[in-house]
Amino acid sequence: MRLLFIGDIFGTAGRRICADRLPALLSERRIDVCIANGENAAGGRGLTGNLVKKLRKYGVQIVTGGNHSFSIPDNAFQFMEQPMVLRPHNYPPGNIGKGVTLFPLPDRRQLGVVNLQGRTFLHESLDCPFRTGLEAVEVLRRQTSCILVDFHAEATSEKAALARFLDGKVSAVIGTHTHVQTADERILEGGTAFITDAGMTGPEDSVIGMRHDQVIRRFLLQTYVPLEPSKKGAMLNAVVIDIDDATGHSRSIERIFERILFSHE
Ligand SMILES: [Fe+2]
Repeated sequence: MRLLFIGDIFGTAGRRICADRLPALLSERRIDVCIANGENAAGGRGLTGNLVKKLRKYGVQIVTGGNHSFSIPDNAFQFMEQPMVLRPHNYPPGNIGKGVTLFPLPDRRQLGVVNLQGRTFLHESLDCPFRTGLEAVEVLRRQTSCILVDFHAEATSEKAALARFLDGKVSAVIGTHTHVQTADERILEGGTAFITDAGMTGPEDSVIGMRHDQVIRRFLLQTYVPLEPSKKGAMLNAVVIDIDDATGHSRSIERIFERILFSHE
């Protein structure tokens, strides 16, 4: 099966880039399942039920989350109960939503998807992504050997370590969160496709999506400065993964970095 995984969709620009480009991309690349990290889809922080509907309309079938999954304070989080909307699996029990799903394909094939969040430099009190991730993967493997993990994490070392930890047990470990696409895509020894970070789909001329003048002020002044999504530049970052359905091993992983001609107005 062929998967398209779209790096963090950021704000209005990220959503409109998907609306404009996804339908053609899905057919050009003969994609069976489209997965996107959507935790920045609402103005750069968070996700809403309405935006999930829009992303689905553009062709996204599974939406994953991260440290901003619960960021909108007055959000109605019931949309996270939908089977194909995930937030990191290693949040404490009692939170709404889930971090694991099984997506049905034709010919009784299934894709397992696990969403995990890193702890290093991010959210240290979460459950261990290694142990909880492995447990989730072992349960999924009773149903399918085709499994993708979105590991939403800050530290490159944590992402590289989790990929090696799960090598041979899952089809792909795709890093998200930094909004900077890395050039290290590869197939590991055991057949797991890996990239440290898939990147961001949103305004390229920015500091990880936000207006750079405001981010610079925040660094200079060391006080709170409100941040707004940038309205300059546009890019689509993603990876295409080709998985052998019989073994669950990946045959290839290819990076996509497209600059899009786009008007923010
Ligand atoms: Fe994030």
